[in-house]
Amino acid sequence: MKTKTKIIVVINQKGGVGKSTVAFNLAHGALLKRKTARVLCIDLDSQGNLSQYLTGDLDIINDTSGGVGLFLEGIPIVPSKTTHSQIDVLHGHKELDRYDNNPTVEARGYGEEMRTALRGLGYDYVIIDTPPAVGFRHLVALSWADIAVIPMEPVMSAIAGFQNVLEAITNLILPFNPGLKWFGVMNRANMRVKSQLENDTWIKAEYGDRILGTLANRAAVSDAMEQEPARPVWECRSARKALRDEWRSFCIQVVGK
Ligand SMILES: Nc1ncnc2c1ncn2[C@@H]1O[C@H](COP(=O)(O)OP(=O)(O)OP(=O)(O)O)[C@@H](O)[C@H]1O
Ligand SMILES: [Mg+2]
Repeated sequence: MKTKTKIIVVINQKGGVGKSTVAFNLAHGALLKRKTARVLCIDLDSQGNLSQYLTGDLDIINDTSGGVGLFLEGIPIVPSKTTHSQIDVLHGHKELDRYDNNPTVEARGYGEEMRTALRGLGYDYVIIDTPPAVGFRHLVALSWADIAVIPMEPVMSAIAGFQNVLEAITNLILPFNPGLKWFGVMNRANMRVKSQLENDTWIKAEYGDRILGTLANRAAVSDAMEQEPARPVWECRSARKALRDEWRSFCIQVVGK
């Protein structure tokens, strides 16, 4: 039987809102949703943080001849193993910007063959992490995706980043990929800060059930990512039950969309 692949891209133009953390947790969330799932993570960020979390290898960003670059070059790829047997990675590396502003790479990226190739790799889920910007690597990932998850913080700069991504989705992506569903999530929220509470309330009133929830700013989230190997929040010993439940249910909700 042919595998139906669900492709989820994590994106926000604003840096540091938790994209790589969310992508990592979603990869593990897919295994909660389906025990036997096979997951491919694609790291389109030249910082390579998701690749580092997944492999525990900080040096992986210096491997500039492999990883996701080969895929963008149209070379048949064999994804690498991670610390989890069911999760593979096409790693990001420090020279990924060389694929931007390249008409050949762009034509291939937006072409039908690339999309078919991605879905033909046999994974149940593909989770894509992106750098803090909106450029070719974001638009091409959105053109492949079924779901876009836009993490933001309840501060104006991150909300502006969320709105810019939405504009790009509406104007540039939906005409060609009308099946793309998008969702926002508040992350790193401190509801004791009045402006954050107000922004959180406003975003939920404005975008309704497109906002999947609010994830609190908690040191245990960083702790989970800093473990060796990194673990999803719900497996982090220093995380309280409410925090574990919050992340687990958010991730299961996304992969089930
Ligand atoms: N809910 C949270 N509470 C506390 N710390 C968090 C939370 N979410 C993420 N972090 C921490 O915030 C930092 C930034 O997160 P992350 O690297 O995932 O963001 P990013 O959006 O991928 O950043 P970049 O734009 O640089 O790629 C990390 O140290 C991460 O551990
Ligand atoms: Mg990141």
